[in-house]
Amino acid sequence: MIPLRVNRRGLLLGVGSGATVAGLAYWWQTKHADNAPQGSPLVVDLQDLPSGKLRTLNWQDKPVWVLRRSPTELAALADHEALLTDANSQHSVQPQTCRNRHRSLKPDIFVAVGLCTHLGCTPQLRSTAGFTCPCHASHYDLAGRVFKAGPAPANLVIPAYHFASESRLILGTNA
Ligand code: FES
Repeated sequence: MIPLRVNRRGLLLGVGSGATVAGLAYWWQTKHADNAPQGSPLVVDLQDLPSGKLRTLNWQDKPVWVLRRSPTELAALADHEALLTDANSQHSVQPQTCRNRHRSLKPDIFVAVGLCTHLGCTPQLRSTAGFTCPCHASHYDLAGRVFKAGPAPANLVIPAYHFASESRLILGTNA
């Protein structure tokens, strides 16, 4: 058996290297290609989804929201961008095709993993004001973009999805 000797410097170097690798992995995930989570496809029928109604699905053991936003709510997304941590979703997880102001493929249909990016509680929809996390009060707008005032570091995660038709959404895979 080979004796293992680790001095303080070596330990620090090892910890530092691990942190660097983790940091690089996160940078790669947020900057490159399509970093949206994928998984077994789930068909979602949008025909009976009225404006303002939040539907919660169970996908990959996570709550995934589907919300139809009104034209007024979409227009309001431009009003508070100076207050957001990552208004352009440069450091958040979503399909490349959803890296836009409304963070969605179609402007009105919003799809997101309903877990706070701080410690994973489930935020609550507060009408047109967006979503508030009950645990430590992080606040997200109706595109899942987080406000600077709370502890959550990033926007809500947008999973992979595409549209099979006007009213059929396939959650879990890109087109
Ligand atoms: S878990 Fe949401 S703010 Fe802490």
